[in-house]
Amino acid sequence: MNRLEHIRFEIPVIGKTCPVAIIGAGGIVEGAHLPAYRLAGIPVAGIFDIDMSKARNLAAAFAIPFVYDSIRQMATENGCSCIYDIAVPGRAIPEVIRQLPDHSFVLMQKPMGENEQQAEQILQLCRQKHITAGVNFQLRYAPYVLMAKQMIAEGLLGDICDLEIYVNVYTPWHLWRFLYGAPRVEILYHSIHYIDLVRNMLGEPAGIFAKTTRHPKMQQLRDVKSNIIMDYGDLVRVNISTNHTHDFGLHNQDAFIKIEGTKGVIKTTLGVLMNYPDGVEDSFEYILADEHPSEWKTLPLNGSWFPHAFIGSMHELIKARQGIISCPDNSVEDCVNTMRLVEKAYKASKA
Ligand SMILES: NC(=O)c1ccc[n+]([C@@H]2O[C@H](COP(=O)([O-])OP(=O)(O)OC[C@H]3O[C@@H](n4cnc5c(N)ncnc54)[C@H](O)[C@@H]3O)[C@@H](O)[C@H]2O)c1
Repeated sequence: MNRLEHIRFEIPVIGKTCPVAIIGAGGIVEGAHLPAYRLAGIPVAGIFDIDMSKARNLAAAFAIPFVYDSIRQMATENGCSCIYDIAVPGRAIPEVIRQLPDHSFVLMQKPMGENEQQAEQILQLCRQKHITAGVNFQLRYAPYVLMAKQMIAEGLLGDICDLEIYVNVYTPWHLWRFLYGAPRVEILYHSIHYIDLVRNMLGEPAGIFAKTTRHPKMQQLRDVKSNIIMDYGDLVRVNISTNHTHDFGLHNQDAFIKIEGTKGVIKTTLGVLMNYPDGVEDSFEYILADEHPSEWKTLPLNGSWFPHAFIGSMHELIKARQGIISCPDNSVEDCVNTMRLVEKAYKASKA
């Protein structure tokens, strides 16, 4: 018997909850938001997209009862009786929030605006409108991350001294047309998840160093590869290394998070990033120094980043609305600090 059998991910039991109203009917809503809500039994009241045909298609595919003509109509009909779920490009978020009711509950897709200035603007808007808002930094709630957090909380790894996120894959950026011409790409739209995860696990770093680079064959895109170091002092190394341009087959593609402590290590692969969009299976491996024999073992994964992690970010808003928690873990007040680090990373890269 594996002594760590209790380390496992379960879909949270959400019970009776108000519905979600979705703004944006793009790839991420189809591929992750709606499948996650279906798994967790979270009802969807309706959907809106400036491209009505996309909203209608998703409504048909997921049995969503209502397609709204405008955000104003959605806001008038639902008031504060739903959670607004925004999944539009970062730069469009402030204008959407302006149209939502005061005192409502909102989950917005990352990034929280296109830069730090917009993130601060979103934060101020939410404060002025007394909106309880969270950011969809869902990697925090991915099954393997929750399992790793459980092992860390039980002291199984000892003191964390090395955290590494390594990605060497081919990402078909052309799937996201809005990234063409965007002034920032890789850190703002991808490595932001890892910066946020590290903050979520280790707290605020003393600093951040970064170099983000382009690719000769992808001149239309800004940064597509990054090296990021987060400074946690002399005893903890945090390294994020991403290359999304490895267009040489699956053989040497890799994507993992390695969390190393004084008493043990976890290495979990991010299968969704490899062979994108089909993905490959995830794995969760660990080794503990005090086990005899001390050898690498695996734990089963009862879910993945897509879509299971998306349950966690919405669950935070549901718990906040139900008064179970006073503030979502992924609140804009917290997540603005991820945006501040992203800004510092771009400044460091330029310098
Ligand atoms: N892991 C993740 O958290 C993750 C993964 C992918 C995308 N995203 C984020 O989700 C957002 C959307 O990504 P996507 O992949 O769905 O892109 P997409 O291009 O497939 O879809 C975006 C949709 O938003 C709609 N839209 C744009 N402005 C709007 C507005 N003002 N009101 C209503 N609808 C509007 C567009 O018509 C489009 O249908 C992006 O910000 C992206 O960063 C997050």
